[in-house]
Amino acid sequence: MARSTSVFACSACGAQTPKWQGQCPHCEAWNSLERRNFAAGDARAGGTPAAAAHSFAGTMAAESKRLGTGQDELDRVLGGGLVLGSVVLIGGDPGIGKSTLLLQVAAHVGRSRAVLYASAEESVAQVGLRARRLGVAAAELTLANENDLDAVLALAAERKVCLLVVDSIQTVQCGDAGSLAGAVTQLRECTARLVRFAKSTGTAVIIIGHVTKEGAIAGPRLLEHLVDTVLYFESEAGSRYRLVRATKNRFGASHELGFFAMSEAGLKQVKNPSAIFLARSPEPAAGSIVTVTRDGGRPLLVELQGLVDRMRFGAPRCVSQGLNSNRVAMLLAVLHRHAGLSLQEHDVFANVVGGIRIEETSWDLPLVLALASSLKDQPLPRSLVAFGELGLTGELRPVAYGEERLREAHKQGFTQALIARDNAPRKPLAGLEVLVAGRVGEALSTAFSVQANLSVLNPPARTHARS
Ligand code: TYD
Ligand code: MG
Repeated sequence: MARSTSVFACSACGAQTPKWQGQCPHCEAWNSLERRNFAAGDARAGGTPAAAAHSFAGTMAAESKRLGTGQDELDRVLGGGLVLGSVVLIGGDPGIGKSTLLLQVAAHVGRSRAVLYASAEESVAQVGLRARRLGVAAAELTLANENDLDAVLALAAERKVCLLVVDSIQTVQCGDAGSLAGAVTQLRECTARLVRFAKSTGTAVIIIGHVTKEGAIAGPRLLEHLVDTVLYFESEAGSRYRLVRATKNRFGASHELGFFAMSEAGLKQVKNPSAIFLARSPEPAAGSIVTVTRDGGRPLLVELQGLVDRMRFGAPRCVSQGLNSNRVAMLLAVLHRHAGLSLQEHDVFANVVGGIRIEETSWDLPLVLALASSLKDQPLPRSLVAFGELGLTGELRPVAYGEERLREAHKQGFTQALIARDNAPRKPLAGLEVLVAGRVGEALSTAFSVQANLSVLNPPARTHARS
């Protein structure tokens, strides 16, 4: 016979305990434990129906259907469009453009198919105003200003929508989950209901989530586990460029990047983003070099800057922006042991211009060059790019997609590249002088002895100025 069992769940952090206590043992919130009842039966004795079985071969053949969002950059990050029946969670700072982008997507899909845009944050008139500003019109797009999630789901089911946008998860609630909108139990229950709705009706659901000061989607990480895809909007303060990064994707590659620019008429995709972060001063400056990263699935040229200054306080400081600071510290040790450059008496600052973060290791060599250039107060040629990984024994190691990076650098007007010997292209590339090195010391002496290619010392004015 089925038994009824209860557990106590914390309304602040979502943790469960078998016994009631005044204080949650996990997050230490007071009076936050609430009783949950559920029936536990013995499946074999109680005659619980067996789970439905599906043939593996049959599921392999069924291809998931995708909806184009009208934005190739977003489709790319999603792995080829929105998968019907999937749930996407999209987070980002306030005012970064989440509502703008999703209204553009809703309007695009809503030209031919039923879409519901449920905004609990803004009135229908406000959303309408924005739609006018964006110049979008969609016959099949319905707007709702509703914070009761069950009412939203009922409307979505009634309209048989293929896309439902919820703006935002922190402002909707379901009546029977207790506590206020935005509390952890509400976030979890609302997200779980949206996931059930998406899977049972085949509707694509996009959930907007606010982020905390630390940059994670407010609420427990649990929300990220519940959904299929998690996207984050990133931007540098004051810049009009926006990056959308997939941190989790069940239907495509994670860490893909999509590029957009905020304009008068909403977000416009940037088709060829490889040089959008390059806006160097016309004069050569010590401590600066351009590298080619391949974070986000395609080559991207970024400027790295290093500043080495005499130590100000008792202990040397090592501060980095956009780069892993432990790796920067490791490279300082490599510079000392294998190239004889000691920075022990110095404060060291490292920065990726443009406010982006580089996760791969190809920035090792260019950063070491930028730091050495700052220490010597000797600019590197502006025609030079560099990439390569450094090992603890001072060896310069190749990185993936070397030739693709070289081609992109050449396309953007660079004429010299310093790379690992094992990254050298099999055939010479016309117009690009490739310099190779096997060790860090050799790389430094090559970089500071190359004759800058005079024709590109003053390259034509770039049109990619950052705003
Ligand atoms: P919004 O989409 O409301 O941000 P979020 O939902 O992430 O909080 O974006 C608001 C910002 O975008 C606001 O500062 C105005 C700006 N914006 C434009 O520059 N152009 C536009 O066409 C629109 C609609 C907004
Ligand atoms: Mg918004």
